[in-house]
Amino acid sequence: MQARKPLIAGNWKMFKTQQEAVETAKRLVALAGKVTECDIMIAPPFTALSRVHEIIGPSAIGLGAQNFFWEPEGPFTGEISAAMLVSTGCRYVIIGHSERRQLFGETDQTVNQKLAAAFKNGLIPVFCIGESETERDAGNTFSVLDKQLKMGLKKLPLKTYSSLVIAYEPIWAIGTGKTATTDQAQQVHHFLRSLLADNWGNSLANSTRILYGGSVKSTNIKELMGMPDIDGALVGGASLDADDFNAIIHFFK
Ligand code: 13P
Repeated sequence: MQARKPLIAGNWKMFKTQQEAVETAKRLVALAGKVTECDIMIAPPFTALSRVHEIIGPSAIGLGAQNFFWEPEGPFTGEISAAMLVSTGCRYVIIGHSERRQLFGETDQTVNQKLAAAFKNGLIPVFCIGESETERDAGNTFSVLDKQLKMGLKKLPLKTYSSLVIAYEPIWAIGTGKTATTDQAQQVHHFLRSLLADNWGNSLANSTRILYGGSVKSTNIKELMGMPDIDGALVGGASLDADDFNAIIHFFK
């Protein structure tokens, strides 16, 4: 089995003006700009991407966006293309976050179109999936995830891409302070890796990084990273403060 380099990703959601984003990025570069033990990504709002890219420059911190539209260009008022993200310095893009699915009507089909466009444009997709509390309580966690994963990745020539990142974010653990237990998370991550192996082969299953997201903090990262199929974290709230985020990254140093 090949070693997967951990990825610690920060999703800033709809927080920070341009100036606030610059200040946070500067502090993070000072604290973690030379870390090599894990990959680091931050995803500021669109309005701060270019400025943050100037700050993080050639440091170890990679730039990501939180969303985009799959068409290359056109009359799509309010939307942003993959090429536009690349032009700001983005290497990563978050796709299908549960907030986008729940609040902005994203579906497995639109997520699939975005994944295809991200790969086509050389962006590393951070493909988010996760079950709601109702779905978990009804015993449907695995069937929900099976559908999200298979429909999201439908017809993608995955064998030609090695950069897929999946983020398992149980919706009930996002911003709630309720983390899945490490056993619950490992069980799901193992299930997802087996699904990848069964449908796309061992090579993709072994190289795909599967991140856990949902109330990750410096106090629970160690336990989560102790699990064999957890390859990093997608962090919301605790990524907004550079010192807090660095405390999570610091686990790897
Ligand atoms: P929290 O870390 O705030 O729970 O958010 C998780 C998340 O949604 C990251 O994308």
